Amino acid sequence: MSIQWNEKNREFHLRNSFLSYIISLLPDGSVGLAHFGPPLSPDRSYPRLLRTESRAWSFRGDGQPDDFGLDFARREYPTPFRGDFRVPALTASDVRGAPLALDLRYAGHLVRPGKPALRELPATYVEDAAEAETLTVYLRSADCALEVDLHYTIFRDLPILARRATIRNAGSARVFLDRALSASVDFDDPDWDLVQFSGAWARERHVRRRRLGPGLQSVSSVRGHSGHEHNPAVALARPGTSEESGEVYGFALVYSGNFVAGAELSSHGETRVSIGINPENFRWSLDPGAGFETPETALSYSRSGFSALSDAYHRLFSKRLARGPWRDRERPVLLNNWEGTYFDFNEERLLGMARSAKDLGVELFVLDDGWFGERNDDTSSLGDWDSNPQKLPEGISGLARKIEAMGLKFGLWIEPEMVNPRSRLFAAHPDWAIGPMNGARTLCRNQYVLDLSRGEVVDHLYSVLSRLLRSAPVSYVKWDMNRSITEPVSSALSPERQGEFFHRYILGLYELYGRLTADFPEVLFESCSGGGGRFDPGLLAFAPQAWTSDDSDAIERLGIQWGSSFFYPASSMGAHVSASPNHQVGRAVPLGTRASVAFFGAFGYELDPDALSGADRAAIKEQISFFKEWRTVFQFGSFLRLRGPEDGDGNEVSWMSVSGDQSRAVVLFARVLARPNPPFGRLRLRGLDPERTYRVSARPSVPVPGEASARLNDGSRGGDELMSVGLLLGGDGWAGIPRGDFASWIFTLEAVT
Ligand code: GLA
Repeated sequence: MSIQWNEKNREFHLRNSFLSYIISLLPDGSVGLAHFGPPLSPDRSYPRLLRTESRAWSFRGDGQPDDFGLDFARREYPTPFRGDFRVPALTASDVRGAPLALDLRYAGHLVRPGKPALRELPATYVEDAAEAETLTVYLRSADCALEVDLHYTIFRDLPILARRATIRNAGSARVFLDRALSASVDFDDPDWDLVQFSGAWARERHVRRRRLGPGLQSVSSVRGHSGHEHNPAVALARPGTSEESGEVYGFALVYSGNFVAGAELSSHGETRVSIGINPENFRWSLDPGAGFETPETALSYSRSGFSALSDAYHRLFSKRLARGPWRDRERPVLLNNWEGTYFDFNEERLLGMARSAKDLGVELFVLDDGWFGERNDDTSSLGDWDSNPQKLPEGISGLARKIEAMGLKFGLWIEPEMVNPRSRLFAAHPDWAIGPMNGARTLCRNQYVLDLSRGEVVDHLYSVLSRLLRSAPVSYVKWDMNRSITEPVSSALSPERQGEFFHRYILGLYELYGRLTADFPEVLFESCSGGGGRFDPGLLAFAPQAWTSDDSDAIERLGIQWGSSFFYPASSMGAHVSASPNHQVGRAVPLGTRASVAFFGAFGYELDPDALSGADRAAIKEQISFFKEWRTVFQFGSFLRLRGPEDGDGNEVSWMSVSGDQSRAVVLFARVLARPNPPFGRLRLRGLDPERTYRVSARPSVPVPGEASARLNDGSRGGDELMSVGLLLGGDGWAGIPRGDFASWIFTLEAVT
């Protein structure tokens, strides 16, 4: 890893063994991008890669060379109004509303070891200054008071470059930022697919891949949270790129609020990727002397397909974004009562469930919604976080202590950011809800959102939550957020600052999460937003796992977890076995398959264990003990996608996880619908050691009779054979085919040599 400055050619070369990022100064003194991609020799310099060109209708400033046009240049932090008509990274206006034609030029730089923390926002980090190096490029303008610093951190052991900007008003008059993105990256050619992760509530983060066409294509959120609809992480891939080969670039925004991420293909075939806070509904007032920091974007590059890209993000997010003691710990097997009881429970029923769960091997009992105020349905009491004495006569602390006495840990659901109009909190503080005080506010799930841009609201929530966590042995918190923000007006902000509201909300949220996680490091936080409505890198910095989706159906989860795995590690995905037929889609899936899919995550159950048949109870006991034996590999192994919903007819999905030393691996193979007389096939495994021999054992989702069952566990194979020939599917091979729809197998591999 190195960052070199070549004074003569005015070029920075940031390099590690995975990638080079070469920044050069353009003829107008601004900062351009010569190369982002495979590592290039640090012994040369690359002025010719910084193509400068001028054509008809080209624009350049006085005294700049004839062969230079801003509209074709690869610019690192583009500003508009001077001849570059593509999407800008930064726009600003003065107090009269007049746009500023910012002419930001290189004015110096600083290279330092390590990676400085951000002031107010979560970010990736290093534990030792030798793990990374950081370059800051100072941009200044002769005719405007705005100063911009571009920060680049290159990691030694990861194909990751972290980028962000800080902007300061060095003048004597107020300036408004109308757009302040985190990164803009210009590529030289048009041959790209944009890969995004999109969906809706209960069907989040499905892979969508489209060929770039002329113009702007982007995903975004204006909901006040990152949203179920699109994820703030996208990839730009060559059209032929597959899991194992081809070029792909990743862009992940460490942020939980309104975002935009997209690509613009210009008329001359250049591609500009932009990512950052959504400029829609954003206007930040910078007083003289004040500064603004953008969220961080983690960029990555792989020349060997999506798997390597995913591996980079899994390592970054699980080890250098997530923090606290739970980062490296195996996550407890939990039972959550939500789908088992919904609002209908009392202490006796919960204790009964906990006792049964303990008997099954569960380690953590989680009490979900409905334990506080007068909440027996979703119409009231959010905001009133005192336990309901009718349901819990000895309160949360009494219940938690009884559950701990059984040898279980206790966890609790809370939705701190919300308030129901029917609550004591709203009666006392109507102005704490977002929206105009005397105007109409829009309801969603009968609730309003509290104004976390206000310090007193954050302080109030901190005191409620910290009191709760101190008053009872709570080991885990599921922090929910069940609606988007409407009427984005804060009664505490002046009219000219209302454009700051959405970002200030997220800053308040991070402050609250930051204070609580610092004061209660032993508590495991799981974030949630109606399932995966805020499943983003920003919250991973505080909560190392998130409830992946409210859809707990194993077949739907194949697509959801598959898509999520492009950027997010298995340890971050809450994944539960729920009852059959499934409550979201009505599908009846074998218990074995429900567990096989959920194993690859922060595993648990979400059903009433007292309603289980004896056979199911026995099967679950066995599942949990199997899971515990393999938990490290499921949650912390290298995750590889083998066959996905978008391959072939999508009927088969397969992925695997391999331990760091390649001695153990687990493989999922799921077949959605049964087919008569199925064709033969092979499942090639990956990530194994070709020199070693592995004992392969199969766990089918439903028992396989007789001879076929014996064949399932027929011994040992070389890593080379498993990866180049694979497991034979159907016919005479390993697979006794369980009959019926929604069958699956888990294969375990243990190195014997
Ligand atoms: C959200 C969550 C669910 C559950 C309910 C409770 O929808 O995603 O898991 O906690 O709220 O109201």
